[in-house]
Amino acid sequence: MITRRQALWTLAGIAGVGLLPRSVTAAVAAGRSTRHGLPILPDDRLHVAPHLSAELLIAWGDDLRTGAPHSDIGHLTEVEQLQRFGFNCDFNAFFPDPGSGGTTGLLSVNHEYANAWMMMPGFASWDEARDTMSAAQLRVEMASMGLSIVHVAFREGRWRPVDGPHARRLSPGTTFCGVAGPAAGHRRLKTSEDPSGRVVKGLLANCSGGVTPWGTVLVAEENVDDFFEGEIAGHPEERSLRSFGVEKIADSRWSRVDSRFSVAQEPHELNRFGWIVEVDPRDASRRPVKRTALGRFKHECAVVASAADGRVVVYLADDESMECLYRYVSARPWREGMSREDAGQLLDEGVLTVAQFSADGTLRWLPLEHGKNGLVASEGFDDLGDVLIEARHAAAIVGATPMDRPEGIAVSPTTGSVMVMLSGNKGRTPDQVDAANPAGPNRHGHALAIQPPTRGPRCDHGAPTARWKVHLMGGQQAGSGRDDRLSNPDNCAFDPAGGLWICSDTALRNAKIAEGLWRCVSLAGEAGVATERLLTAPIGAEFTGPCFDPSGESLFLSVQHPGEGRTSTFANPTTRWPDFQSAVPPRPGVVVVRRRDGERLNR
Ligand code: FEO
Ligand code: CA
Ligand code: CA
Repeated sequence: MITRRQALWTLAGIAGVGLLPRSVTAAVAAGRSTRHGLPILPDDRLHVAPHLSAELLIAWGDDLRTGAPHSDIGHLTEVEQLQRFGFNCDFNAFFPDPGSGGTTGLLSVNHEYANAWMMMPGFASWDEARDTMSAAQLRVEMASMGLSIVHVAFREGRWRPVDGPHARRLSPGTTFCGVAGPAAGHRRLKTSEDPSGRVVKGLLANCSGGVTPWGTVLVAEENVDDFFEGEIAGHPEERSLRSFGVEKIADSRWSRVDSRFSVAQEPHELNRFGWIVEVDPRDASRRPVKRTALGRFKHECAVVASAADGRVVVYLADDESMECLYRYVSARPWREGMSREDAGQLLDEGVLTVAQFSADGTLRWLPLEHGKNGLVASEGFDDLGDVLIEARHAAAIVGATPMDRPEGIAVSPTTGSVMVMLSGNKGRTPDQVDAANPAGPNRHGHALAIQPPTRGPRCDHGAPTARWKVHLMGGQQAGSGRDDRLSNPDNCAFDPAGGLWICSDTALRNAKIAEGLWRCVSLAGEAGVATERLLTAPIGAEFTGPCFDPSGESLFLSVQHPGEGRTSTFANPTTRWPDFQSAVPPRPGVVVVRRRDGERLNR
């Protein structure tokens, strides 16, 4: 996501093309494009390679059960928003219905944040909306975040929302979550509303995620600080608040309608966010659960793999410059046939570790265990709960490697390689460069490939060490035409046959190329990876949440924050994607990418 502060630049940039460097505009004037004829600068449209199609499945404000749009999208009420598709969609997880052959199922979609000044008429800017929104409007904004669970079906050649018993919305203001694992009931999770420290209202800033083999979705809470505000100097939780970057005035001023978002009013509330939340898409009666054993930081994603003996492994990324890559390994194995309730508890008892990369190609997973490696009372860690609540601080103490914004992670279905996207770090100085983060400044991001050892026939994701190498450097892919190179890799996914697909974020700002979706092609020998651009996002948008159906014929893909930028408003946006109707602002939504010939996408 982009913060309000970052948007100031983007808007100047997107305002547009006229403000980009002359070399870039000259290239556009000359009609330069990629090998598939896609533009390298954004305009108000979504562009797709000629052999592909990208059809809208559902967008902000659509009825979850029918897909019908709202007739007056600028004036959604809170009640309506809680029954309709949310804003700024991100992670997608597809759960095929048993026996359907993958042609019907549930799609779980994260809604990371909202652009209130583009959702509602009457605001000239983000700042104006933030400072003057009514209480009712703030509640609509809150209601537009969280999760949408949608029934979808493939009928007559296309995917569409259909009615079904599990369709529902989860939100920061209405969904109560349980707390499980070592920090459940911790004194630093107790608040005036919840003296037990075991029930949290809301899931928040849900970026990417993961899927468990037992059929639940893991939802990451990332930039949760954007919703909390107040003075942090001298605050009892000062170290924790500072590590999350809480400011006196928040980007979203929810404290005006709910005092728990004021850190002065409710000093522990922020400790209740920044976790991985497990949601059972098929059972609305089960409360989502914050799984504290997986640590608290700005979680990008939670990608599940397996140790050779069946213990559950979750790869976790903390998306901020100089933050780290983590891994959780359960104490007990998962076995086919376990109930979803029992399997979920595997995420409560295990060890959280953090990655230390060495120049010789070794990766060591360093445990974050109370009482060991400096994680002791004199550092502010009275128990394991403290270690997990302040996992960032613990990671620094044990000697984890600070990374260039760890974002998307994907595990290859064919080789077991773990791909880690690092979207960039302009603040890394040349003397801070290391083997795993070899650029300083790192303007274009890069990707690492981690290869765990094999044990018998299986890749052992639970092993204490692994091998790693740089998979690609942003902007430098060998064998790609200049205009097919990607920059700032963010979310990623493997197709069922093992091809890697990558979305960009901030490529327009850093490389002066439009945000897009790329496919990687491994080159022979050690020559590296070539990339080809297959989609270009509408202006202001990034693609997020790439998710293949089991057949590999369909890719669910979110189009997040179309039209975002300083000059864009509800009345006068830079794009009206996907409706292109004069009174309708741009609407974030999910598209389905397919080949026009209906074959698998990785052909
Ligand atoms: Fe929400 Fe790290 O992107
Ligand atoms: Ca991002
Ligand atoms: Ca992301």
